[in-house]
Amino acid sequence: MEEIFDENKQGEALVLEGKTANSRKLFIESYGCAMNFSDSEIVASILSKEGFNTTQHLEDADLVLVNTCSIRDKAEQTVRKRLEKYNAVKRINPGMKIGVLGCMAERLKTKFLEEEKMVDLVVGPDAYKDLPNLIAEVDEGHQAVNVILSKEETYGDISPVRLHSNGVTAFVSITRGCDNMCTFCVVPFTRGRERSRDPQSILEEINDLWDKGFKEVTLLGQNVDSYLWYGGGLKKDFNKASDLQKATATNFAQLLELCAKAQPKMRFRFSTSNPQDMTLDVVETMARFKNICNYIHLPVQSGSNRILKAMNRQHTREDYFELIDNIKRILPDCTISHDIITGFPTETEADHQDTLSLMDYVKYAFGYMFAYSERPGTMAERKLEDDIPEAVKKRRLQEVVDLQQKHSKYRTEQFLNKTVEVLIEKESKKSDMHWMGRNEQNTVVVFPKEHYNIGDFVNVRTTDCTSATLIGVAVGYSENN
Ligand code: SAH
Ligand code: F3S
Repeated sequence: MEEIFDENKQGEALVLEGKTANSRKLFIESYGCAMNFSDSEIVASILSKEGFNTTQHLEDADLVLVNTCSIRDKAEQTVRKRLEKYNAVKRINPGMKIGVLGCMAERLKTKFLEEEKMVDLVVGPDAYKDLPNLIAEVDEGHQAVNVILSKEETYGDISPVRLHSNGVTAFVSITRGCDNMCTFCVVPFTRGRERSRDPQSILEEINDLWDKGFKEVTLLGQNVDSYLWYGGGLKKDFNKASDLQKATATNFAQLLELCAKAQPKMRFRFSTSNPQDMTLDVVETMARFKNICNYIHLPVQSGSNRILKAMNRQHTREDYFELIDNIKRILPDCTISHDIITGFPTETEADHQDTLSLMDYVKYAFGYMFAYSERPGTMAERKLEDDIPEAVKKRRLQEVVDLQQKHSKYRTEQFLNKTVEVLIEKESKKSDMHWMGRNEQNTVVVFPKEHYNIGDFVNVRTTDCTSATLIGVAVGYSENN
């Protein structure tokens, strides 16, 4: 993976000649959400300054880092399986060090070292700047742990090393942590309280990406609409800020506008929006700027008011419909996607039917659907019995998935026999003769390569589709090119 080191990074490596002389190899893997993948790029950047080059071959690694996810039990089991694999390699190559990053590190802390004897290093999501010190401790033969959560954004000044990048689309984090305390969710415990990043450093990262040829940025946060910069500090402490800080604060709609204006030819997306925090000024800002994509990921979790309350979601089914109606009024061609959980404690068949009828109302373009997985330490785990049998959770999940499939097809067909603007991202997985890209609404579009290139904006005439993919032919460069 050496090619990820662009010219700049090689420059840096030269400056650090003393260290690169005995340069070490880092193998880093990420699981879970986009924020983890983005954080791994920050980690690679921090460690490149310590003389670590990344490798794609586990067997070659001096240091193996796994950025972990705790959101569902299955996610943790996946990581445990990977650790078995690393351990097997370490038995052959005892000099290799193994480190666990991310949410499992934060959730299990030192317990991880007891449970996984081969692990040398446990580092929570806010402690990556301490990695050089922690690795030095490990080099001296100790185990090292840092799981301290922060009150500040933490990584605003680090320019991420883009791992596995297509050179066209990138993630930029704008907030960290979450204050919402949905009763099923482990994130507030593993990623701490919500804080926002200085808009100046966000704009610098975006401008830098543009200069490097990137054409699309997704602004990332657990709850982006809650973004609030008032000079640093936790969101919950905003009321203690000075009058000047309050008067000059930047909210999410304003941040979107700053980004859209800073790079008018760059596409902007954002994820994730929590319905309770999404305000109409965000939707109106989307309407004002063509380069903010008309696509919103708006997790609902359940269509039942009783379950929404038990989940501590701060909106009702009716509030959600109102928001959807407003989005459709202001942005008629906006697509919407969701997250839904089936089998939350006490969910009845009637509650489940409420979820299906909510889906029928919205007709989402796509969604991420999960069976409820009880997470240690959450409110739901402490107060509610996980009482829905696994088979019922799975059956309800299947019904939700099947309905979504139907709606996806309906939404994709709306773009059929039309001309859509596509940003080319990479070769199609199924054919090396075709490009793959997405339209503004985030629908995947596949078409013959012809003379076009990755990073081009092209107009594609669509002629066919599956439930989630449009198939067509390019008819020329778009005016955004
Ligand atoms: N704020 C983030 C939430 C990350 S978790 C976001 O909105 O994207 C992503 C999704 O995982 C949640 O929206 C929820 O649908 C699902 N999820 C979270 N905890 C879960 C649990 N305990 N069991 C099943 N699904 C869960
Ligand atoms: Fe989790 Fe709810 Fe926050 S799903 S990340 S607590 S918005």
